[in-house]
Amino acid sequence: MADEMPLITRAVWWSDGEVCWINTKELPFREVVRCTNDPVELAKAIVGMEIRGAPAIGVAAALGVAAYSKSLADSGVEISEFRDKVLDVIEVLWKTRPTAYNLFWALSKVKKTLLNSYTMDVVRVANEIINEALSILKEDLEANIRMGIHGASLINYGSTILTHCNAGALATAGYGTVGAVVRIAWRQGKITKLITTETRPLLQGARLNVWEYSKEGIPVTLITDNMVGYVMKRNLVDAVFVGADRITREGFVINKVGTYMIALAAKRHGIPFYVVAPTSTIDLSSSINEVVIEERDPDEVRKVMNELLITLPDVPVMNPAFDVTDPDLVTCIVTEKGILSPPFEESLRKVSVAKV
Ligand code: MRU
Repeated sequence: MADEMPLITRAVWWSDGEVCWINTKELPFREVVRCTNDPVELAKAIVGMEIRGAPAIGVAAALGVAAYSKSLADSGVEISEFRDKVLDVIEVLWKTRPTAYNLFWALSKVKKTLLNSYTMDVVRVANEIINEALSILKEDLEANIRMGIHGASLINYGSTILTHCNAGALATAGYGTVGAVVRIAWRQGKITKLITTETRPLLQGARLNVWEYSKEGIPVTLITDNMVGYVMKRNLVDAVFVGADRITREGFVINKVGTYMIALAAKRHGIPFYVVAPTSTIDLSSSINEVVIEERDPDEVRKVMNELLITLPDVPVMNPAFDVTDPDLVTCIVTEKGILSPPFEESLRKVSVAKV
């Protein structure tokens, strides 16, 4: 069943030597596709969150390096200039968002391809980079399906699932992490309803989850972030599924700000709290104190949709993009390699491949 799942929504893809993406800032009102081989334009799109969600950011960055490499090779530069310029571009993309681990994982892979290539033929090196980027994309799609199958096995028939932020198709190369679980469980007849938080300040739940799941006929109900506790208290949630931007070696889960509150409420109400993430999100090299939590533009909080001011224009605000959920609040971590149980320090080590 999973293998036949149609790929209806794509966040990022390769077309004719360019990286293409759907501008998620415009959703759900306008479907705008953009393509480029200019790494600076791509970097701006990642910082500006036209492309967002940890796996999608990683795939986009790799494809961006590939597109740039192709354009350089087409222009006929020498190998040493090619190497220097591609390394510079990797550096530019590296600095776009500090928390999502998949970005560093994917860029390290293309960098390794560049540095390990001993041929002097620029076109050949560019092709090797393109192949590496395309295999990162393909691996992400395959991992989505595997996570979906594992995650769906945790869901009972007739369940209502709650999710936070968008960990769906729009956050990956294809089906999503949580998105794949939901899509597969829905096809199996296990899910009766998906509840999504709106996910302030940038409204990934209200804008993106509602758009991508409604499109496939998956019944989605929208709540504001502060309704989670009440909805759980009324026994309206059977399980929580969220994605992750980074999972540290101790099992701390860094995900969209608000995740921690939901995990606390789930624990209080005895509701299982599942994290769905590919092994490329697991950062065995960092302990939680070493991870940078991205702090974003204060105007994202002062305004709604970057337009409507909802407070005094100069009020001090905090705008961390992510928060940290302690391992003891997590029931299981679903990866493409299987379902990990506590103690996570041990189970994460067994499956992790990501090296930066
Ligand atoms: O700031 P965003 O929109 O990039 O944050 C996205 C999330 O927090 C997702 O839950 C996470 O990247 C996992 S996506 C499969």
